[in-house]
Amino acid sequence: MSKLRSASAANIGMLVSGMRRVALVTGASTGIGLETAHGLAQRGFSVVLCGRHAQRLEGARTSVQAIAPSAEAQSIQSDFASLAQVHNLARDFLSRFHRLDVLINNAGTWVPKRRESVDGHEYTFAVNHLAPFLLTELLLPLLKETGRRSGSPSRVVFVSSRLHRRPSEFPFGDVHNQRRYRGIVAYAQSKLANVMYANELARRMRNTEVTSNSLHPGEVATHIVRHHPILRHAIRFARPFLQDPARGAKPSIFVATSPELKQTTGAYFHACKMRAPNPYAQREDAQDRLRALCVQLTRASQQTLLERPSGPTQENSWTTPSTSS
Ligand SMILES: NC(=O)c1ccc[n+]([C@@H]2O[C@H](COP(=O)([O-])OP(=O)(O)OC[C@H]3O[C@@H](n4cnc5c(N)ncnc54)[C@H](OP(=O)(O)O)[C@@H]3O)[C@@H](O)[C@H]2O)c1
Repeated sequence: MSKLRSASAANIGMLVSGMRRVALVTGASTGIGLETAHGLAQRGFSVVLCGRHAQRLEGARTSVQAIAPSAEAQSIQSDFASLAQVHNLARDFLSRFHRLDVLINNAGTWVPKRRESVDGHEYTFAVNHLAPFLLTELLLPLLKETGRRSGSPSRVVFVSSRLHRRPSEFPFGDVHNQRRYRGIVAYAQSKLANVMYANELARRMRNTEVTSNSLHPGEVATHIVRHHPILRHAIRFARPFLQDPARGAKPSIFVATSPELKQTTGAYFHACKMRAPNPYAQREDAQDRLRALCVQLTRASQQTLLERPSGPTQENSWTTPSTSS
């Protein structure tokens, strides 16, 4: 990893001085995220791959470089089950790159048994929503600045799921699913939170140079259900009926790069078609309440970091809802 870092540090000047657009893809070591990184590199982006496993990440970075030899591919390791690591990811990115044109919030997980993140939050909600929420907020100033300077809005894309339609509302009374945990319910709630936040962000960023959209990638043969005792076997039989990850990456690439979507914001896509999301995800009062909750839950991590001598600098701190837009 340190080797990777020093190699990338040497390239920073080139990345910044060149006119290449920069894309950050989370969950890029496998599945839809890896194929999204391939597609963006082939379209001329400098791609920064984010993942939690050093070896898998380096394999992914090498494959991007092989598929698009003229592209820049860098990587940053971060486990989204720790908000401190999300802070480190943002800090590392901001120290290495001076522009961010596309942020693909793709990393996601599904866990059948209830567990908690390092910060004591329910794991699925922490990885699928709190981490991308915090990452996006920390990178927002650079996204705005890039959009303003390049004359083309920067794009934030949330890889949600059609399962976001399943809950009738977000469970504000039991955010951490302490009453009765069911993997699919926790997953669907986290994906509903993705769409709500994408819409809230679009609203908050309306007069800035940042767009925010969410999508369902389709039914894709990946390892998303690897922790499920039954589904991980069942998927082998379902494979012929599922899309391959390259096809599953198409919606993310489409929403991130299509010229016709330059000004589109606050939209939800099912595959590459714009669709109405769960009506609950459109409710502004619920969106605002969710944002306030996420600010509160992630501010604790900010506080912990600031208390540590090695915590992030003041420039990396982010502000409250009322002052951050
Ligand atoms: N496959 C589908 O049919 C489908 C349908 C709807 C939505 N989606 C969404 O599509 C996105 C991509 O999933 P996928 O299908 O491509 O599954 P996948 O192959 O399992 O990819 C998920 C990615 O997220 C990363 N990730 C998981 N937990 C993480 C953590 N704690 N910290 C950092 N990264 C973590 C994984 O990294 P590791 O390799 O280290 O585990 C992996 O790179 C997810 O958000 C998923 O919810 C998928």
